[in-house]
Amino acid sequence: MAVPPFAFQDHWAQPLSSGDLEEICALIYKRSGMVFGEAKRYYIERRVSDLIRQRRAQSVRDYILILRGDLVESELLINSFTVNETYFYRELHQLECLSNSILPDLIRSKGPGDRIRIWSMPCSSGEEPYSIAIWLLESWPLVDSYNIEIVGSDIDTEILQRAVEGYFGRRSLSRLPRNLLDRYFEPEQDQQRRLIGDLRESVTFTKGNIVDRHSLTALGGFDVIFCRNLLIYFDEDAREVAARNIHEMLHPGGYVCLGHTESMSRISETFEPVRFPDAIVYRETREL
Ligand SMILES: C[S@@+](CC[C@H](N)C(=O)[O-])C[C@H]1O[C@@H](n2cnc3c(N)ncnc32)[C@H](O)[C@@H]1O
Repeated sequence: MAVPPFAFQDHWAQPLSSGDLEEICALIYKRSGMVFGEAKRYYIERRVSDLIRQRRAQSVRDYILILRGDLVESELLINSFTVNETYFYRELHQLECLSNSILPDLIRSKGPGDRIRIWSMPCSSGEEPYSIAIWLLESWPLVDSYNIEIVGSDIDTEILQRAVEGYFGRRSLSRLPRNLLDRYFEPEQDQQRRLIGDLRESVTFTKGNIVDRHSLTALGGFDVIFCRNLLIYFDEDAREVAARNIHEMLHPGGYVCLGHTESMSRISETFEPVRFPDAIVYRETREL
């Protein structure tokens, strides 16, 4: 029986039939690579119920029909299923590796003033690309000798908007030393801080889907890609597609940093692990 939208309550989750659940999960997978299924039934029902309420759809079937024909609607669905957990200076050893090993290696084939392109994919609310910018300003003595471009991308359009605005709460900032908080952030209400304008402008944010090559083409190639804590949400097939796209987005000899539970070893042969003193990262293996 269809339940009219006005009868939905805030905490109420619309039960989904197995078929409807399967169809919604298949759509999320096709559009993002993220794997959901029966095991997350309650989580899925809560989110879908919220969306049904917001759309004022008459029923789950009604909502699925809207979803099938409407790309904006499926973008909202994906936005509500993403896990955006992130914070400044996460896995700091990789930033140390960037300035101590990766960049010194990359500049062997570059001259002063040349571009170095770094991609944070996925960037969530911006903590990762902004951390890279702060780290390089603080820790890489050659930062002014090269034209460093930092790009942040994510599939989630709402979280990208938050990244651009640059407001952060205590949890997000908890790993940053006090002197950096004072230097790069302005105090705001409710214990929030806002990143200073110069740094907000130093990162370009743009929507991108790691399993959709077409959504990435306009971004050009990168020397270093931070792809951390994304592959964990994918199955083997989606990881392989992501690895292929990462490979295509890398300049020859470029580097990839993954999250600490992630690895390229089973999904792609086009990267070799490189053990630097601070971290193990992956290098693209085409001949330079
Ligand atoms: C846990 S966050 C990781 C953020 C950051 N890299 C870090 O490690 O702190 C995962 C992010 O992946 C994004 N995401 C999920 N599927 C994606 C896809 N197919 N393409 C790009 N981003 C995706 C989500 O929107 C979310 O912001």
